Amino acid sequence: MAVGVFDSGIGGLSVLQHLMQQSPDEYFVYVADSQHAPYGNKSEQFIQQRCLEICRFLIEQQVSVIVVACNTATAAAVKTIREHVTIPVVAIEPALKPASLKTKTGKVGVLATASTLQSQQYNSLVSRYAVNISCYEQAAHGLVELIEAGRLDDPQTEALLRQYLQPMLQQGVDSVVLGCTHYPFVLDTIQKITGPEVSIIDTGSAVAGQLKRVLSEQNQQHLTAPMNALKQHLFYSSGDIQHAREMIGLLMGQAFEVTALSV
Ligand code: DGL
Repeated sequence: MAVGVFDSGIGGLSVLQHLMQQSPDEYFVYVADSQHAPYGNKSEQFIQQRCLEICRFLIEQQVSVIVVACNTATAAAVKTIREHVTIPVVAIEPALKPASLKTKTGKVGVLATASTLQSQQYNSLVSRYAVNISCYEQAAHGLVELIEAGRLDDPQTEALLRQYLQPMLQQGVDSVVLGCTHYPFVLDTIQKITGPEVSIIDTGSAVAGQLKRVLSEQNQQHLTAPMNALKQHLFYSSGDIQHAREMIGLLMGQAFEVTALSV
């Protein structure tokens, strides 16, 4: 059976890489809603509506589980999605818990979209896991747009990251949580700015572990693959297809066909 994965754009590919590594026998259907990226400055209602449309599309493709590879979509819409779909939904949230266990200075930086940081879901994470630590949050306005445009190794991207990271570094953070799935694609620049002694914490691998658990439960329930089970990975984008093809090829290190998303 196939696994559906979606994000506001190409950011979720950073999660997909972990999913493919940890579940190498699965086929994935990836949706990049790049026409509507960034979700981070859209209303909760808009994000919920887009997420439901994309989930319906993925279910039509006969996926047995959906991975929400977007922190912003999780924060705004995971409850609504779970109310509307009957298959399991694996979601992603900023890694405050691992960061709280790892930090030695008790100071953790969190880089995410404004919408994620303002969400009830994020505040509930802080009250559960950041009891004995201090979090220094920074909304990284404009960063998703630069990454979507493919400007990964770019002076403007580096300058923006410097502007966002320096204040938290001055506060003495020794760990930085990447609370948006686009950001691992500029990890090298982030680490260059923070220096090697600061831990950069990403959630992709933990999400892949969670997907493996869900798939193994489904296998135990003998949910066998239907006759028309997928035999290849599929990529859909609501944005410019040629650009999506180039970015997916670049970020995945392999060429894939990309189809225009019809929803
Ligand atoms: N990849 C999304 C996330 O994890 C990007 C958010 C956006 O589109 O603003 O939050």
